[in-house]
Amino acid sequence: MTNEPNKLLDVATKAAIRAGRVIKQYWGDLESSEVEQKSSWRDLVTIADKKAEELVIKTIKHRFPEHIIISEEGGGKSTEDNDSEYKWAIDPLDGTTNFRHSYPFFCTSIGVLKNNQPVAGVVYDPIHDELFTATQGQGAFLNGRRIHVSTVNALKESLLVTGFAYSVNDLQQQSMELFKKLSFHTHGVRRDGAAALDLCFVAAGRLEAFWEYGLNIWDVAAGALIVQEAGGKIANPLGKPLDLFNGQILASNELIFSELQSEIQNSVASLTKN
Ligand code: IPD
Ligand code: CA
Ligand code: CA
Repeated sequence: MTNEPNKLLDVATKAAIRAGRVIKQYWGDLESSEVEQKSSWRDLVTIADKKAEELVIKTIKHRFPEHIIISEEGGGKSTEDNDSEYKWAIDPLDGTTNFRHSYPFFCTSIGVLKNNQPVAGVVYDPIHDELFTATQGQGAFLNGRRIHVSTVNALKESLLVTGFAYSVNDLQQQSMELFKKLSFHTHGVRRDGAAALDLCFVAAGRLEAFWEYGLNIWDVAAGALIVQEAGGKIANPLGKPLDLFNGQILASNELIFSELQSEIQNSVASLTKN
């Protein structure tokens, strides 16, 4: 198929914008945004997550019925068994906790993988109307304008972001220790609560780096490609081979990457010593 990544991107964009419209209908209306709990009382799902997921899946299936869909709220499970080389990794609403508290930092994330490698990705923030897009080898864009990672070259002059998954384990504790340490040795560390947007902020040069453990493919498939296409680096924070399905990610501009990765690895080493 000629121009294949662009066709995938067009459908992903259409789906993300439709999802954004639905999410905005529920935005600020906490009464109708009914809440359920998933793995714990902190892990929420709202009607907006479900309605947005329905729309995204419908849009994709209409155009690519044979593709595999992996979607956070489970709406795509029925197609997981087929052997298509294409997989769509969908987070219909990334940042549900923010959404539930009317904190305007959330998005829809749609990444398309070909043989498990991201080839197209869209992240849409409906509140600020910011659409981040990328296709493999063709750069990353924000509302149609090319974006690049920042040129800050020292960790101490960097603004960073991290996240803490709902399940708490040793690595989360290590991430919290590092959060404390880096908060006083850099320009700051944010915890913004939407991994896909965190990645896009690195791509747009608003933040120098992002790391987190315990993510899922739907959180990172689109954002990782957008960072790479913006000239950034995606790696495993602990120096293992990169596997976007294993939930551990470090995204950064090339210039501070080694310094930050050393800090992460040293803090893991000190955790195992104690
Ligand atoms: C969560 C957000 C958060 C991250 C969690 C994710 P959700 O996704 O991306 O920033 O720290 O690990 O699970 O539940 O809002 O889609
Ligand atoms: Ca998510
Ligand atoms: Ca979600």
